[in-house]
Amino acid sequence: MKTRSLDSFPWVLVILGLAITFPPMSRGQTGPPRKAADLYGYYCKGCHGATGKGDTKLGQKLGVPDFTSVKIQEKMADDQMFKAIKDGIKKESVERMKPYGDKLNEEQIKGLVAYIRTLKTP
Ligand code: HEC
Repeated sequence: MKTRSLDSFPWVLVILGLAITFPPMSRGQTGPPRKAADLYGYYCKGCHGATGKGDTKLGQKLGVPDFTSVKIQEKMADDQMFKAIKDGIKKESVERMKPYGDKLNEEQIKGLVAYIRTLKTP
């Protein structure tokens, strides 16, 4: 009996218990998301629109660029986009888009640049 005690111990319940007590970040997460598409939906969609067209109320009011446009995409360099997201965009000292450098790390910003590239619809 003594040697079998390990086998009969209800490990399944222990693991289940741990899983419930310490859920992985991805499941228990309530803060901002991590994937580029989700980040975009969380931070950017309000102005730039779900498809990147910028056809939201706020987007139209502010005159955001149309990310689905091939022409617009060609005009934006990667590093320029990176900088715009990190440091924001100011024109004549008026803030056009606020900086996200305090909310997003470099990897996330690069992910967003890559994501915006996928919004182009030829
Ligand atoms: C409050 C509205 C608003 C939100 C939210 C917003 N943007 Fe913008 N964004 C703008 C406006 C307005 C412009 C155009 C600024 C200009 O060129 O005058 C712009 C321009 C851009 C550009 C083009 C920069 C260039 O080089 O021309 C990129 C890239 C961009 N936004 C990415 C993002 C990303 C990524 C997010 C989310 C993390 C985001 N924006 C959130 C308003 C917004």
